[in-house]
Amino acid sequence: MTSIALIGPGRHGTAVARLFARSGVSVRLYHHRPAKAQAAAAHVRAVARDAEVTIADSLIEAVDGQEIVALTTLWNAPQRSVIAGLGDHLVGRVLLDVSNPLDVTPQGIIPAHPAEGSAGEFVATLLPHGVGHVKAFSNLATAFIEEGGEQSAVLPFAADSARSAEIVRPYFTRTGWNPWLVGDIGMSRQLEIGGKYNAIHGRHGRSRLDAEEMLEYSGPEAVLV
Ligand SMILES: NC(=O)c1ccc[n+]([C@@H]2O[C@H](COP(=O)([O-])OP(=O)(O)OC[C@H]3O[C@@H](n4cnc5c(N)ncnc54)[C@H](OP(=O)(O)O)[C@@H]3O)[C@@H](O)[C@H]2O)c1
Repeated sequence: MTSIALIGPGRHGTAVARLFARSGVSVRLYHHRPAKAQAAAAHVRAVARDAEVTIADSLIEAVDGQEIVALTTLWNAPQRSVIAGLGDHLVGRVLLDVSNPLDVTPQGIIPAHPAEGSAGEFVATLLPHGVGHVKAFSNLATAFIEEGGEQSAVLPFAADSARSAEIVRPYFTRTGWNPWLVGDIGMSRQLEIGGKYNAIHGRHGRSRLDAEEMLEYSGPEAVLV
């Protein structure tokens, strides 16, 4: 466990990349605009500890050899484009999905209502067979991502299988967050904006509970097959 790929480092993705890089996990970034890739890499390198921050020239180069691929573009069209662009190159890897169903328009940010019930369930329809799927970080404001690890706050996450959950768990633990499996990808709505793990206030602040609060709020961790 030493590295992840991260596709689409904007505001949220750069914070996720920084969280991993500061925890000793190398990050290979891909952005479709090279200047934005360079800018993101500089922000991530500024906090990296015992971790390499590299830039891939293509989607396929980004994921080659990586077990986990964080997809941090906006939901819908960019997700379709990246997942279609990777195709079978995603098979055998776990896609870490951070998305909320929000449309960013010239008129502002507008909540969307995916027919599938959530952005996570929408993403699930795009993934080729054999790709793992984990949903996390969508409940958190960008500013909280790097704080939670220092507080050992609970990081709720959903996964399509026990295998996917166990692949990501040590990466999450390494950041200092306390990973807490809340169910399968059908739980995504609760991890997205307005869902129960976004709206709750805990001892560490909005969307950040400690383990005792989480147990009371949500019960023990889910068990998947
Ligand atoms: N910001 C938050 O507080 C927050 C909180 C929770 C969850 N999230 C979720 O995190 C995701 C990202 O949000 P954000 O605020 O970070 O948005 P953002 O700043 O717009 O970042 C997304 C980045 O992805 C890039 N991108 C688009 N298509 C791409 C492609 N094909 N390949 C590589 N990169 C591509 C975009 O580049 P261009 O725009 O230059 O094309 C942009 O820089 C969303 O799903 C959002 O719901 C955000």
